[in-house]
Amino acid sequence: MLLAGCTLGKAEALSTAGTLDFANPLAIPPLAESTVSSDGARVFRLTAEAGSSNFHPAGPTPTWGYNGSFLGPTLRARRGEKVRIAVKNTLPDPTTVHWHGMQVPARYDGGAHQVIAPGAEWNPEWTIDQPAATLWYHPHVHGSSEEQMTRGLSGMFILDEDSPTRGLPSEYGVDDIPLILQDRIIANDGSFKLTSNTTAGLLGETMLVNGTVNPYLNVRTEAVRLRILNAATARVFNIGFSDNRMFTVVGTDGGLLPAPVPVEGLVLSPGERAEVVVRFKAGERPVLQSLPQELGMSGDLNIEAGGNDSLDLLQFRATAKLAAAPTMPAGLAAPASFDLEDPARTRVFVLKDMYINGKLMDMSRIDETVDAGAVEIWRVSNTDNLAHNFHVHGAQFRILDFDGVDPQPEFAGWKDTVFLPVRATARLAIKFGPYSDPVMPYMFHCHFIRHADMGMMGQYTTV
Ligand code: C2O
Ligand code: CU
Repeated sequence: MLLAGCTLGKAEALSTAGTLDFANPLAIPPLAESTVSSDGARVFRLTAEAGSSNFHPAGPTPTWGYNGSFLGPTLRARRGEKVRIAVKNTLPDPTTVHWHGMQVPARYDGGAHQVIAPGAEWNPEWTIDQPAATLWYHPHVHGSSEEQMTRGLSGMFILDEDSPTRGLPSEYGVDDIPLILQDRIIANDGSFKLTSNTTAGLLGETMLVNGTVNPYLNVRTEAVRLRILNAATARVFNIGFSDNRMFTVVGTDGGLLPAPVPVEGLVLSPGERAEVVVRFKAGERPVLQSLPQELGMSGDLNIEAGGNDSLDLLQFRATAKLAAAPTMPAGLAAPASFDLEDPARTRVFVLKDMYINGKLMDMSRIDETVDAGAVEIWRVSNTDNLAHNFHVHGAQFRILDFDGVDPQPEFAGWKDTVFLPVRATARLAIKFGPYSDPVMPYMFHCHFIRHADMGMMGQYTTV
């Protein structure tokens, strides 16, 4: 196995539950400003820049961000709109910006090939044509994504429909709240540890939500929508509440579910998103946590992905009077379904050590060629002794089954990233995008970012 530089020593389960003081108001990433160009495109500007942030009494942390020193603004656009993004790199290193979950031509995808040199600018543009969803953006430089994301480069990208689904809280920053979850190791001088400390990747003991440590959020409405993004590079979160209250999953990676699904917990591996609605009573202060989970891994391997940890993430403070919430609609969106040809073209991917089908990423090799617009079945197996996941660029999929069993209803909607615990197999029905380009590839990879950096990635073209 390629585990150079990793520790495989015994880790203790980490617990911050009940120890935080929730002293800091949760930061809400600002909505990005935009202008409309003469050709009707909505134009956003993102500048990748170096700065410093205050996370630790020891002193400021050198960080990177977009249009600021940590994370980036929330981009927001509507289905049918043409968007153009002027990305400027003022960092000392080359970077890329990948639009995770977006259907975009491969040359604008921001994967490993669209490198923006220091001082250079990149101007991708495309027309949004996919359902309302919570997507995100982050760097994808082959071999240094873990480091660049850890420094702070990531942001949310929200897509809207012309006629939004009624009955869901939808006032950004008020009752519709982005939650970007990350973990860090902060050294005594305030600096971030930038490289992995476990086989899974970098697992930190300091939790950041939207870049805030020990955060609280004032709640003024009976119902709040949370757009939760696991932007950690390695940690698997099992989202739940300190009082075990139920909450309702309304959307996953690529859009809203057909119907709301009440749950008590929800596992999100790196790169995955969920939209959930939580109901509050006046005056209460429940805490959003990551709870120990059964990842189907034995002892130490579970700890390796943070699975035995019990972590406080965010305290909600419901005010004495709460505004009434709209009634949750019984139906939300059209189901994630499409016709599969019989028999559908099936491809098999085996994740083992840091390889996919026995190969490491080679930027000059195209691993798969797919027909533009096709629907295929991809059967992805983790035959390893540690957890992985699988993300496909330029497409959304639905999970046909996990180890032959139908997915739970909260995982039956649009997805672009699927969690694969030890020895799990998922069959995915993937609808590929309409853009064809015989030369420029999209990537597929494990989204435990250290694994991707080490080469657990492949490339496909659509023709
Ligand atoms: Cu979010 Cu190829 O990644
Ligand atoms: Cu992996």
